[in-house]
Amino acid sequence: MGTKTTLHVTGEKIEKFTGDLLVFCAIERPDRMPFCDERVKKILQPVWKSGDFTGKKDDYLLVYPASIGMGKIHRFGCRRIAVVGLGKPEDTPNELREQLRLAGGTIATKAKSYKAQKVMVVVPDVAGLSLSERTESLSEGLLLGNYCFDKYKTKDDEDLTSPVKTFLLSGNGSSTAMRHGMTLGKNAGLAACAARDMANEPGNVWTPEKFADHAKQLAGEYPLKCRILEKKDMKKIGMGGILAVNQGSAVPPKLVILRYTTGKKNPTLMLVGKGLTFDSGGVSLKPAAGMEDMKYDMCGGAAVLGAMEVVGREQPPDINIIALVPATDNMSGAAALKPGDIIKHFGGKTTEVVNTDAEGRLILADALAWGIKTYAPDAIIDLATLTGAVIMGLGHHRTGLLSNNDTLVERICRAGEQAAEPFWRLPLGPEYSKQLKSEVADLKNVGGRPAGTITAAAYLQEFVGKTPWAHCDIAGTAWDFTEKSYIPKGPSGVGVRTLAGLVRDWAPLPKKKK
Ligand code: BES
Ligand code: ZN
Ligand code: ZN
Repeated sequence: MGTKTTLHVTGEKIEKFTGDLLVFCAIERPDRMPFCDERVKKILQPVWKSGDFTGKKDDYLLVYPASIGMGKIHRFGCRRIAVVGLGKPEDTPNELREQLRLAGGTIATKAKSYKAQKVMVVVPDVAGLSLSERTESLSEGLLLGNYCFDKYKTKDDEDLTSPVKTFLLSGNGSSTAMRHGMTLGKNAGLAACAARDMANEPGNVWTPEKFADHAKQLAGEYPLKCRILEKKDMKKIGMGGILAVNQGSAVPPKLVILRYTTGKKNPTLMLVGKGLTFDSGGVSLKPAAGMEDMKYDMCGGAAVLGAMEVVGREQPPDINIIALVPATDNMSGAAALKPGDIIKHFGGKTTEVVNTDAEGRLILADALAWGIKTYAPDAIIDLATLTGAVIMGLGHHRTGLLSNNDTLVERICRAGEQAAEPFWRLPLGPEYSKQLKSEVADLKNVGGRPAGTITAAAYLQEFVGKTPWAHCDIAGTAWDFTEKSYIPKGPSGVGVRTLAGLVRDWAPLPKKKK
């Protein structure tokens, strides 16, 4: 599991580097030679004059020092030198971060295609970001772009790329600052790759038990405590939602709990992730076309465990965090839940299940209600591939955000912008909640076709009471996310880097005025 790539800050002279690829960055300037490292000006100038390289985003120039005599002039010891365009100097720090992440993604993608093992990257001087921030974003892009999932390919395919083994970062300035930035980028980048790994595993491998095993493994490696609620525990405490969804399955459900505590009276954040290991729709069966993608219905759970990996590595001093992942598949076995069935959630609320494919909200409702009762968190964030409707509204470019707390929304949006995982808030309100009224139970699990993402969130809202809560509908972004160099096809790992940013500088939420 995870990538074996290593990342180091090096003081080695770049001329002495004898690896497979040495990379510089260049910044686009209007009608002028792109701004770049002195050592590659000679290479770049004629190419810029020819108009083939202006330093714009995704510009990429590859040279072989030996074949153009540069080896002698600069005594470059490595086989290949590349220059990557960063684009024009952007205005905001977030845009600058993204330029560096994209460059990292381009570098890793190219390096993989040459099967390069050892790559040195010169961290560019970009005004507007500190050396640490530059190193962080570049490191993130390198690791995210270097991601490969080919463990099930048994043939030595010519087309198979192989990930870079070692990235060396060289830069102008304090190596302590560089190492700090690199560590942040590495922690978040590798955790997002771990979330992608979980998502890429097929439904016959990544079962609820695997979620539990992974959480136990994290608890073995880091100062985190793991607890698993088994089916019998769920029966005892009355988690009717998770049990109902699991009825048609051949494998038992799990509720995975992973806790990080500072031992101090710090605010507690609860993270909840939908861990639906395969969503067939159940008796309300989904159409066959594209159903294979429903192995990704556990990306919320994967993001939450990814975030806990960052928490475990960094151990933020002023926040306690509890992660909950309700995990089951949604199948249509003989005992399966049926449309019209009435179930009872943890806490006693009853639901008429009108569509068994709206199962995510059923498992999340139990986790939310039980989590609040058990741990009394100060804030809750849930992540779930909850509705196809969010793709209709926001496409694959933004995560839907629904919340009962404006400060929480502001924070999530800010962290999302910094991580280039943008959010967009949708409203909640009694008029939407009314769509969930049932004739025979407290609620029904579907509120009709209009506003499908909002009514799904309105369902969850019934279980959070007054606790500040935000729901992230990642159905459009967990895979097929905006195409870019560091987001390969397949699962994106969305949410991990946003959550990492959020917990890194968490402050207590202001108390609501009465
Ligand atoms: N896991 C799906 C949502 C989904 C759909 C995610 C497409 C990603 C891509 C969820 O469990 C579901 O099936 N939701 C239904 C709800 C409907 C029955 C009210 C949906 O969106 O169609
Ligand atoms: Zn479903
Ligand atoms: Zn689902």
